Amino acid sequence: MKRSFIREILESIDENTISFAGGLPNEALFPLKDLQEATTKIFKDANVLQYSLSNGIKSLRQKIANEYTNEGFETTVDNILITTGSQQAMYIIAKYFESKAITIEEPSYLGAMNIFRLNALFMESVKLEDDGIELEGFEKSFQKTKLAYLIPDFQNPFSSTYSDEKRAMVAKIVKTEGGILIEDAPYRELYFDKKHSTISSLIPNQSFHLGSFSKTLAPSLRIGWIRASQELIQSLLVIKESIDLHSCGISQYILDEYLSNDENYKKHLNNLRKNYKIQMEFFAQTLQEELPQFHFSKPKGGMFIYGNLDTNTSELVLKAIKEKVVFVPGSEFYNEHKRYNEIRFNFTHSTIDEIKEGIQRIKNLLVMK
Ligand SMILES: Cc1ncc(COP(=O)(O)O)c(C=O)c1O
Repeated sequence: MKRSFIREILESIDENTISFAGGLPNEALFPLKDLQEATTKIFKDANVLQYSLSNGIKSLRQKIANEYTNEGFETTVDNILITTGSQQAMYIIAKYFESKAITIEEPSYLGAMNIFRLNALFMESVKLEDDGIELEGFEKSFQKTKLAYLIPDFQNPFSSTYSDEKRAMVAKIVKTEGGILIEDAPYRELYFDKKHSTISSLIPNQSFHLGSFSKTLAPSLRIGWIRASQELIQSLLVIKESIDLHSCGISQYILDEYLSNDENYKKHLNNLRKNYKIQMEFFAQTLQEELPQFHFSKPKGGMFIYGNLDTNTSELVLKAIKEKVVFVPGSEFYNEHKRYNEIRFNFTHSTIDEIKEGIQRIKNLLVMK
């Protein structure tokens, strides 16, 4: 096991370093005042400090369930388990499938791969393409593993989004072969133009759909959820309870209060999408002008730009850190078949000036090469 490069980097850099590394939301866009108001309100009731239900407070689960139902994916409170971020959701599910084999995308989310290692899940990687996982490889692998972990919306790190056709094909394979899909979707609401429907809605009894408020509201709340069949949720509850009894009640009550004003949340999400699109467009344009040797496709949402360069980026990043700019080299996101010429840039957490200056510093390093 090795620690996440990203977390280690976040600990080692100082305030003068321009970081394109972490998957951090833009704190200037946090709805601070609304969350403050929600917090003041909930603290009028002593119950918010009491132990609470293992699967999460009912009215919050109801709100999450309503969102699914409103988009045509029939869901009740009993289909929802509140977790301590989607990171814990993955941990609970991995524990449930301990020591089995799992099909994953390549590249994939480092935090998930570490959880799978910790729970002795054997990972089989299948190449990710611009419109989703390579289907032939997926089918072959899934026939053996009967378990898959996919991030279909604005993938971390690759930034790709599954086409509707690939979503339907993945669901068909899971249905035909039997088995379970873990669909991790923390970036789903951060679309620039279009929200795709979930793969899970096509296979409601053979899927875990994972959501999170980390990227849309505030990661420090540490609130995520799992949407699954009642039977699967019941099986996971034993594991959830043994980890932490329940996720932070205060965070859940704050969220529940905040979300009770539906308009506020909608407005906030629209504002995020608008601003993140502007940040992405500026980042992409600066890359095209200053680093034309960096090849990438513009993402359709999410937080990352992913691409490749004609250089070893694992070496480049060490020089970059000395020049006080940092990104994540793509090799970190591979379990096997590592590639050493790729980079993931986060575009949501830097100002226009930082984007200009950071890319300039990387350009200078490449000129000196
Ligand atoms: C794909 C993916 N899944 C899950 C997580 C964990 O998020 P949370 O803050 O909800 O635990 C992240 C965080 O970066 C992520 O990128």
